[in-house]
Order: sequence, then C-alpha cells, then structure tokens
Amino acid sequence: MLSEARNKLLTEVGPGTPMGGLLRRYWQPVAAVAELADNPVKPVRLFGEDLVLYKDLSGRYGLVERHCPHRSADLSYGMVEPSGLRCSYHGWCFDQSGACVEQPFEDIAAPDVRFRDRIQITAYPVQAHAGLIWAYLGPSPAPLVPDWEPFSWANGFVQIVFSVVPCNWLQCQENSIDPVHFEWLHDNWKARSTGGDGRAAPRHLKLGFDEFEYGLVYRRVREGADENDPLWTVGRVCLWPNALFTGNHFEWRVPIDDTNTLSVGWFFTRVPKDREPFVQQTIPYWYSPITDRATGRWITSHIMNQDFVGWVGQGAITDRRREHLGQSDRGIIMMRQRFFQDLEVVAAGGEPKAVIRDKEANRCVRLPIIGRTLLTEGATREQVARGGPRGGDVPRPGFPYLVGQPEEVRRAYDEAMGL
Ligand code: FES
Ligand SMILES: [Fe+2]
Repeated sequence: MLSEARNKLLTEVGPGTPMGGLLRRYWQPVAAVAELADNPVKPVRLFGEDLVLYKDLSGRYGLVERHCPHRSADLSYGMVEPSGLRCSYHGWCFDQSGACVEQPFEDIAAPDVRFRDRIQITAYPVQAHAGLIWAYLGPSPAPLVPDWEPFSWANGFVQIVFSVVPCNWLQCQENSIDPVHFEWLHDNWKARSTGGDGRAAPRHLKLGFDEFEYGLVYRRVREGADENDPLWTVGRVCLWPNALFTGNHFEWRVPIDDTNTLSVGWFFTRVPKDREPFVQQTIPYWYSPITDRATGRWITSHIMNQDFVGWVGQGAITDRRREHLGQSDRGIIMMRQRFFQDLEVVAAGGEPKAVIRDKEANRCVRLPIIGRTLLTEGATREQVARGGPRGGDVPRPGFPYLVGQPEEVRRAYDEAMGL
C-alpha cells in the first residue's frame, strides 16, 4: 500500500514533477529512424509536454516545442529545411538548438533590428541509435545513449513496434518486475481462452530479486525446473528506469503524460546459420492497435496485448492505497524503494542510478541474458528445429508479442529466417 502522496510522487511525470525530472535524466526512445525517413515531421507528447520531432533536409534530428513563438501555429505542420524546421504560417525557421534563424518578412522589412535574435524556442537533443530515435529532456550535459549489447549483434532481424497504452507509466513498469503474471496472464489465461482448463501452466515455486548496475533482476523456479535453470541462475532484467529486457527484446514504457504511456518494443531474432550473412538494410517499425474495433474491448490475443490488459485494467493511475502486496510483489516493493532513493539523490543534486557517461563503459554494455549463445553465435536449422540451444528463443512463423504486424514486415521476416 502507498499513501496518495507517495503514489503521486512516483506516478506524476508532468513538467516540474520530481518523477518527471528523474525520468528526463535518461534518453528515451520516442520514434523509429525509418518513421522519420517516411515522414520527416511528427508531433510527439512526452512527460506532458507537446513537442515536434523532425529530421531536416541535412539529415539532422530536432525536437522542439509544438507551437510557434510568432502566433502559435502548430509546428507539426511545418516544413523541414536544410537547417531546421520552418513554420508553415509565416515562414519563421528554427534550428536544432531552438534558435530562430529566419523571419522572412522581418528580415526584409527591418533587417537591422534582427528581431529573430530575441526568439528562442524549447529544443531538446535527439540521437539515432539501433533504428530508434532517442530524446533527452533532462538537464545538460546529456549522458550517453546506452549502447546495450543487442544493438550491435549481427545476423538478426530487428523490428520496432509502438503502442499507445492509456494508463500511467509506473504500473506498466511494475510489470517488468512481476514474474508470477507469466503463469496467469500469459499461460493460464491463454490456455483457458483456447479451451484448456487454465491451471495447467507450471506453477512458480520460488522467486528471487536482486539489484545490479543497470536495473533489477528477477529470478524464478517453476515446477519441472530447479535452481540450475537459467531462469533462476541468470533471470530477467527490469532495466532502469523504465524498461524490460528479456534477451531477445526490450520494452520501454515511455511516459506521454500521467495517464498515457508509449510502449516501445525492440525485437531481435537471429537468423538460422544457413541464412548468414544477413544484413538488414532498414529496421522496420509499426504501430500495434490495442482496442478491438468490433467490440471496443482490449485485444487479448498477443503476449504484450495481454500485458496491456493487465495495466489498463488497474485504472488510469492505479490507486495504490487499495492494493495488498504479498510475496509475489517483493520486486515491486524493491523497485519503488529504489525510485524513492533516486528521487532523493536527484533532489540533493546527485546522479541517479544507471546514467551512463563514460564512453568506454558504454561500449556494447552487457546485460544478463538467457540463451546468449543463440543470440550471438546463431544456431543451425537442426538446432532451431529442436528448440534451439538451451534457453534460447528460435525463429517461428508469426509474431507472438503484438497484434497487427504488417504483411510486408512478416514477409521480410520469413525471408530472413528462410521460413
Ligand atoms: S505563427 Fe509561425 S511564423 Fe507566424
Ligand atoms: Fe507480460
């Protein structure tokens, strides 16, 4: 149970809030590189702030406030130029730093006044990495965009999937440290909805939670396995501060505002050895719906859609005064305590957990990974047919995580895997 005040402290992320301030100290994935190649100007909302993300004609990225400082036109309808973004209403132009570099009529009518020198809009740094566009909305100097080890793995098919989930970011992130939900939300519920008895999944017998440099790890022993199983010896990663990492994919929960979260999934599938070398020209991206148009209900058919049902069902910002935390929730308690600690650190002017500033330390940063061999060295088609090296995920037809994979992505995936 959390008091209303403590709940607010962890959940509210708008401008000026402590938690918003903490999360802004980390680079957040906000779009796909291929997305801005398709359409160079995109409205985004992050931490309750309306912004415009763009790629200018020189290939530079920018992230600026949504409304033009002239007379407030919507810059998401602006035009990209060689050196920034131009408002479509009267042509004022802004560069990546937010400086106004051109005011077409003022520059003719009163060039000596240099009115534009007095105009500055909010602008944030943006970087492309691993097919994602990352934004940093915190204080300067910005740290480094984390170079997590999977970002440089070869011979893999990567896809990026976005979903807008209408609830607070924290209940999404609490799911990253909640092992028991797999048994019910994913295994038993699925079994029941497809005609099984819904109690057949191996039960969780034992849980462990630990902190490490870049987050928390949860470990589990389920029926039929023991403490030699990699799910116990290695575990899964609740990546600090707002992601899950399972070895073959990341899921970031990026706050749009207090009651909406952008789910960003980055999925890696290693091609079988006989498909090597495989080089992906462009990392595809797509948006996954979460509501069933026919019924107005949430979609439940895919793994992350099931997670979304869990999260949104808790309410827009779940009321933690009415919860009853048990043994299964030790990781959640640990995570909240760690956030409270970080909030104090930041309030005292310190650096919170897992901010990376050292270039050397940021080279291919290793994380706990089950089935690392499959992911880094690949497997033969025979090994894949047998289920891959121990603990590894193997290429299968279809995409189990999110609904709505576009046909062209499915085809590219099948082609890469030789399915
Ligand atoms: S409102 Fe943008 S240039 Fe006038
Ligand atoms: Fe889940």
